[in-house]
Amino acid sequence: MIFTVAIDGPAAAGKGTISRAVAARFGFAHLDTGLLYRAVGAKGGDPVAAAESLSAEDLARGDLRSLAAGQAASRVAVIPEVRAALTEFQRRFARQPGGAVLDGRDIGTVICPEAEVKLYVTASPEVRAHRRWLEVGGDEAEVLAEVRERDARDMGRADAPLRPAEEAEILDTSEMTIEAAVAAAVALIEAALGRAR
Ligand code: CDP
Ligand code: CDP
Repeated sequence: MIFTVAIDGPAAAGKGTISRAVAARFGFAHLDTGLLYRAVGAKGGDPVAAAESLSAEDLARGDLRSLAAGQAASRVAVIPEVRAALTEFQRRFARQPGGAVLDGRDIGTVICPEAEVKLYVTASPEVRAHRRWLEVGGDEAEVLAEVRERDARDMGRADAPLRPAEEAEILDTSEMTIEAAVAAAVALIEAALGRAR
């Protein structure tokens, strides 16, 4: 069965949490596509060459979750040649047999417009910054400024800007528990699986 779940949205909206939960529940493979851009940003040197030669080792670095790595990722993510170098791998992952969940910024709009389920997960900048601050600590106002800066860069770029796909279901998790957000995603997927059968 070819079945793709595309989960897009801004930083700390809950994309990864929802993706991991539904992948486990339905037995789908999961790809956190943000990790690809984080690894390119962390590699240094020419970002296009880094994207073209990305290895499993690059993706296994321990420092990819930091705020600085997120900023570096969004800076290399505006470069069309970097995005192009990462496209084929993501497309193949999305259409592998057995089903796949990919989370990122452009999965429903660019990587897999044919995805059977498209979800745009969002929450207010303040709620998202608070969630990220609980994970990384430091100064919460600085985390909020970082989240807003990255949102602006991701939404404002010319190539594959962050925006909901036309048919995407919008899930605002600002006042939702993780359990409620996962349940909403599960219901959408079950409905689409029912249509696919
Ligand atoms: O992948 P993304 O950056 O969109 O977000 P995440 O890593 O899934 O979630 C960011 C943080 O928010 C995690 O610590 C989640 O546990 C938390 N979260 C939450 O508190 N409530 C939700 N409804 C979703 C996520
Ligand atoms: O977890 P969080 O939402 O904070 O970030 P991420 O998903 O790891 O993505 C880091 C950065 O990579 C984003 O701010 C985007 O600039 C870029 N990215 C992208 O351009 N396209 C994707 N499909 C995934 C991430």
